[in-house]
Amino acid sequence: MAEPLLALRGLRAGYGDFQALFGIDLDLHEGEVLALIGANGAGKSTLIRAIMGLVPVRREMIRLRGEAIGGLRPDRIAGRGIALVPEGRRLFRSLSVEENLLIGGECGRPGPWTLDAVYGLFPALRERRRAPGTALSGGQQQMAAIGRALMANPGIILFDEISLGLAPVVVKDIYAALPAIIGTGVSAILVEQDVGRALSAAGRFACLQEGRISLAGEPRSFSRADITAAYFGA
Ligand SMILES: Nc1ncnc2c1ncn2[C@@H]1O[C@H](COP(=O)(O)OP(=O)(O)OP(=O)(O)O)[C@@H](O)[C@H]1O
Ligand SMILES: [Mg+2]
Repeated sequence: MAEPLLALRGLRAGYGDFQALFGIDLDLHEGEVLALIGANGAGKSTLIRAIMGLVPVRREMIRLRGEAIGGLRPDRIAGRGIALVPEGRRLFRSLSVEENLLIGGECGRPGPWTLDAVYGLFPALRERRRAPGTALSGGQQQMAAIGRALMANPGIILFDEISLGLAPVVVKDIYAALPAIIGTGVSAILVEQDVGRALSAAGRFACLQEGRISLAGEPRSFSRADITAAYFGA
């Protein structure tokens, strides 16, 4: 098989004395959507933060196209084409939608994602382009957060809780946008509470349980019972 785009090898991470991840081995391949599932506190956000350089890890634990990048500064990791859509969106609330999008592009690379392309993907954002972050619905905020990440033209996008707290109709819109995003050559790791939705959107998944991978592979290779057991522990 081709060298993975992103390879986690024996990834350990935590907060001070508290260890949250225990030797994670996981690959993300070019053009792939990988769903990362697991119960509250399983370590999903820590894994995403580790990739992004937001929690300390050893250099060789994370490789991007073979280059060891673990523990580099977050801006260096962003500069290599990894973008984060963080839990809770974290827009600049005093700035307009358009200003938020432009900030995303500032340190990014050239590529297909421009303001127009983002507005084409999420027409609601074009209508609200002058509105401040504070005036957006939760769904619009998530669209703006995704748009801001895309504006950097990343090769990899990390979604932490892509649909948490959003109305079902908006969740549908956001998932409907995924193929267009992946179609421009972006690979993705998708953290999602809604396991059914995550597994139908992803080519592969990994389930975390208490900081370890309890099950991983193609969703169709496992029964619902297998996945439930891996999720809750049995
Ligand atoms: N800043 C922190 N300081 C100390 N411990 C933390 C911190 N953030 C997370 N933890 C702990 O690390 C473990 C993994 O947390 P993490 O946030 O990665 O889980 P998660 O799978 O994203 O959970 P959730 O579904 O609730 O978002 C948990 O035991 C959590 O309490
Ligand atoms: Mg989390």
